Amino acid sequence: MLERTLVIVKPDGVRRGLVGEVLRRLERAGLRIVGLKMLHLSRPLAESLYAQHRGKEFFEPLIEFMTSGPIVAICIEGDNAVSRVRALIGPTNPAEAPKGTIRGDFGSNVRENVVHAADSLQHAQREIALLFREEELIS
Ligand code: RTP
Ligand code: MG
Repeated sequence: MLERTLVIVKPDGVRRGLVGEVLRRLERAGLRIVGLKMLHLSRPLAESLYAQHRGKEFFEPLIEFMTSGPIVAICIEGDNAVSRVRALIGPTNPAEAPKGTIRGDFGSNVRENVVHAADSLQHAQREIALLFREEELIS
């Protein structure tokens, strides 16, 4: 099924110059970039993006991290894009992520893991709407 999903190059990825590498891997996998922007997340936007984790012990440090510098938001389209992008980025903890995945190759630790990707089609649609206006996406 043709799907759209949201990828974010997190502040650590931007600081370390990994934006091009992430885009290259997405493109090389045959996925289509339909939206792209750099921005500094406000605290309310970061909290909304990660609302599912509110109350967990890592929530506050996660929000501090995600608002610590600019991010790059990428809207991706392709067949089964949600699960394919999750496979490209690898598990949350880089120590458990295989080589060849973005987190396995570049992640620093369980928080600073270079990229975010939506974990379901429902979350993807919600997250895309949080970060892009309709007219900012290619049809
Ligand atoms: P993401 O949402 O960023 O794509 O990551 P994910 O699905 O693989 O992992 P999730 O459970 O949704 O966690 C969201 C982000 O919170 C930070 N985190 N820190 N134990 C910890 O300190 C911890 N656990 C998670 C990571 O930045 C993780 O990607
Ligand atoms: Mg997640």
